Amino acid sequence: MTDEQLLNLAREAAAKAYAPYSNFGVGCVIESVDGEVVTGANMENACYRLGICAEQSALTAAQHKFGLAKVARIAVAGGGIDGDALTGDLTCTPCGGCRQAIFEASCLSGRDIEVLSANGEGT
Ligand code: THU
Repeated sequence: MTDEQLLNLAREAAAKAYAPYSNFGVGCVIESVDGEVVTGANMENACYRLGICAEQSALTAAQHKFGLAKVARIAVAGGGIDGDALTGDLTCTPCGGCRQAIFEASCLSGRDIEVLSANGEGT
């Protein structure tokens, strides 16, 4: 899959965010070394600090579908939620906790994991 295709899927995944507190939707796509794909989105709740980032959501799906050791590429897109649209020109990159989770997936295989990031507009 091309970078653009991965980021488009990440934007589509962001539409499935449950983010009524921040109104900031994030979608994440993870591609395996074999080209399999899983998605995730952020999911919040009234106890703010216990919300789940899109990356953690997608990493969980990846572990179930093909295993963390096969993670090859991760695409993240995030922005303001405006109806069905994702908005904003600030690039959304994984937070520190998610970087740690991605790093640990990388340690399992000994390979680097490529991370692509986009803003709400998809660039
Ligand atoms: N968020 C993610 O899901 N991933 C990121 O890389 C950055 C932030 C979520 C957490 C929270 O639900 C909302 O975006 C605002 O921070």
